[in-house]
Amino acid sequence: MIRSFLFVPGDSERKLEKARGVPADALILDLEDSVATAHKARARDLAATFIQTSGLPRERLWVRVNPLTSAEHADDLAAIAPSLPGGIMLPKARSPEDVRALARALDTLAAGQGGAGDPIAILPLVTETPEALFSLGGYGACGARLAALSWGAEDLGAAVGATAVREQDGSWTPPFEMVRNLCLFAAHAAGVAAIDTIHADFRDPAGLERACRAARRDGFTGKLAIHPDQVEVINRVFRPGEEELEHARRVVAAFEAKPGAGVVELDGVMLDLPHLKQARRILDD
Ligand code: COA
Ligand code: MG
Repeated sequence: MIRSFLFVPGDSERKLEKARGVPADALILDLEDSVATAHKARARDLAATFIQTSGLPRERLWVRVNPLTSAEHADDLAAIAPSLPGGIMLPKARSPEDVRALARALDTLAAGQGGAGDPIAILPLVTETPEALFSLGGYGACGARLAALSWGAEDLGAAVGATAVREQDGSWTPPFEMVRNLCLFAAHAAGVAAIDTIHADFRDPAGLERACRAARRDGFTGKLAIHPDQVEVINRVFRPGEEELEHARRVVAAFEAKPGAGVVELDGVMLDLPHLKQARRILDD
């Protein structure tokens, strides 16, 4: 399971080199918003080379391409897909159809190379345009490449002219809190992982930890990072702790002790089947 994804600007040799030693479950080599237009071509080449030469397992190497509607998108795919990254992040997805279009393009590229069904996964950012919010229920029909959904507030905020997406205390303003929650349920409706968005203030480990705890509590299983220092916090918070594992084992044991029971008692608390499901989910992690 991928808990921590670290964005690495694709045009920065220094950061690419540094990223090799960071314990993120996956790196996202970025060709989109962190790369100026003049550097797009260079970033594409550096990212493709990095995938082939870094020595990291392909499951840990992801690429954020430019949006489907951009001038760069097709060139990004043509340069990146042959090096078989673990996955592609699709920013500014407008609907599930955008994911299907990307999947078809990957199928076509793979067929052209004689590869029967390459395993490149897709992770769309599903809240970056206003229209995208109105088809969030449909990602279950995107096919086997769809691995997870994530969300972003900054582009959406800019699209609607919001003057801020966060309150003074760092919490999301109501429209963006809603969008976060919609992404969570859209991912679960599609049966894929829900990955929380970035914590932009990378010198705020306490705020990051709070955001990670809230995200994990609510059903996200990982989070995007923008700085190496954020990775340890994300890995730690999204991994079940010993206490949590022990409790989950006791929940399962309580049900196993009463075969056929739909409801049991543990430490004076009523447990029913959703508790058993959650305990198994924690133990399967
Ligand atoms: N990936 C890999 N290495 C990174 C990194 C990242 N995302 N962010 C910082 N580093 C490296 C720096 O290069 C520096 O390495 P050095 O000691 O060899 O010089 C070290 O980590 C410490 O970095 P620091 O000085 O604390 O930060 P910075 O000022 O260099 O960079 C940012 C700050 C925000 C510009 C940088 O973290 C960044 O580029 N993040 C990713 C941005 C991005 O991809 N955005 C798009 C998605 S929202
Ligand atoms: Mg963006």
